[in-house]
Amino acid sequence: MATIETNPKLGQQVRDDAKRYVLHSWSVQNAIDPIPVAGAEGRYFWDYDGKRYLDFASQLVNVSIGHQHPRLVAAIKEQAEKLCTIGPPMATEPRSTLARLLAEITPGDISMAFFTNGGAEANENAIKLARWYTGRHKVIARYRSYHGATAGAITLTGDPRRWPAEPGIPGVVRMLDPYTYRCPAGHPDPCPVCTGAPHLEEILQYEGPHTVAAVILETVTGTNGIIVPPDGYLESIREVCDRYGIVLIADEVMAGFGRTGKWFAVDNWGVVPDIITMAKGINSGYVPLGAMAVREPIAEWVRDKFFAGGLTYSGHPLACAVAVASIEAFREEGIVEHAAAMGEVFREKLHALAERHPSIGEVRGLGCFWGLELVRNRETREPLVPFNAGGEAAAPVTRLAKAALERGLYLMTHWNVIMICPPLTITHEELEEGLTILDDALAIADEYYLG
Ligand SMILES: Cc1ncc(COP(=O)(O)O)c(C=O)c1O
Repeated sequence: MATIETNPKLGQQVRDDAKRYVLHSWSVQNAIDPIPVAGAEGRYFWDYDGKRYLDFASQLVNVSIGHQHPRLVAAIKEQAEKLCTIGPPMATEPRSTLARLLAEITPGDISMAFFTNGGAEANENAIKLARWYTGRHKVIARYRSYHGATAGAITLTGDPRRWPAEPGIPGVVRMLDPYTYRCPAGHPDPCPVCTGAPHLEEILQYEGPHTVAAVILETVTGTNGIIVPPDGYLESIREVCDRYGIVLIADEVMAGFGRTGKWFAVDNWGVVPDIITMAKGINSGYVPLGAMAVREPIAEWVRDKFFAGGLTYSGHPLACAVAVASIEAFREEGIVEHAAAMGEVFREKLHALAERHPSIGEVRGLGCFWGLELVRNRETREPLVPFNAGGEAAAPVTRLAKAALERGLYLMTHWNVIMICPPLTITHEELEEGLTILDDALAIADEYYLG
């Protein structure tokens, strides 16, 4: 364990400068009080007062391998000594190796990768390529989704984070989600939305399949509530896309790289998308990196054409080197298998929590990717805090998260859902430590229960 040195004065300076000079993302500047972070290791980070936090969010569900993994830190240092930066037209050892490794670990015949600086940019390039490849312009995206903050990706995004960016790019059509707990179709059996094909077919009937380039979806929905599709859903979307020549894009920026207990979330259902987008867990954010990887037919098609895309830092050597080291560490340390095993522990223990806390309406997830949906009443399923709630309306959940933080547990929450997404390397003891604090904090949610 790294020694934790305290320096409260520096901590105060860091916090003051952040509040005075930094424009923080997705925040009301005057309402935030960022934790000044002095260091991190494994599943913990700490502040300048020496207070440690167990990271049950992997920051933004991206530090999948944990903080300061020695092998990744060494890879950055080694690559920095050799070659810090070079332009994307060059062939570099880290990028070439990484592309080959991705071809090995991605499903089916996915075999060519384009590298980006993050997830949003991967999605931008995926829809651009799908439109070009098909010669069509519409993209079908779902409501309960987040695809990134750049112009196209935020238009694809279905949740209210899109509103300030509207009207956005043209051609985005919206589809409903297989959200069985609050199914918009009332969830009859069989359900037209949650089975996939009937709802998509109806949309296509009105849009004209010959105008639709792509369907983009988060294989397992992330921030919008950790929604795991029912078995058969993805297979059925795949079949409809195949029938109409529509490119299926799986956004695995959050769900990829072992998060669900498989290398990619699509592997849970044996579905091969035409394009898979990734970032976050690709190298746990040690250096910014994303990628879009495509199947063989698209790869072959694009080989003799001018690909109009890329940024100065695309496929940065430091970012690719640390991704190579991360994939090697995942393989040698059995991290994906560990995430799957911990998923079973989470499943059992979170369901046990639900037995003790009436405010837990639904437990859902897999691997190290779980959500607790909180309600005021289990019968009516009234959410503990309303959709898109902020300020006082969100108090039940913000109070809970604050209480957990005071006890040293860092949680990510989204409206009435508590996300439980620790690094995949979490140990049994750390899992127990986190769930014990969460158990206590859930008493706050129960105070609001009306059942
Ligand atoms: C599913 C999904 N797609 C795309 C993005 C955007 O990735 P980035 O923030 O790296 O641009 C995110 C970020 O949270 C995400 O969760």
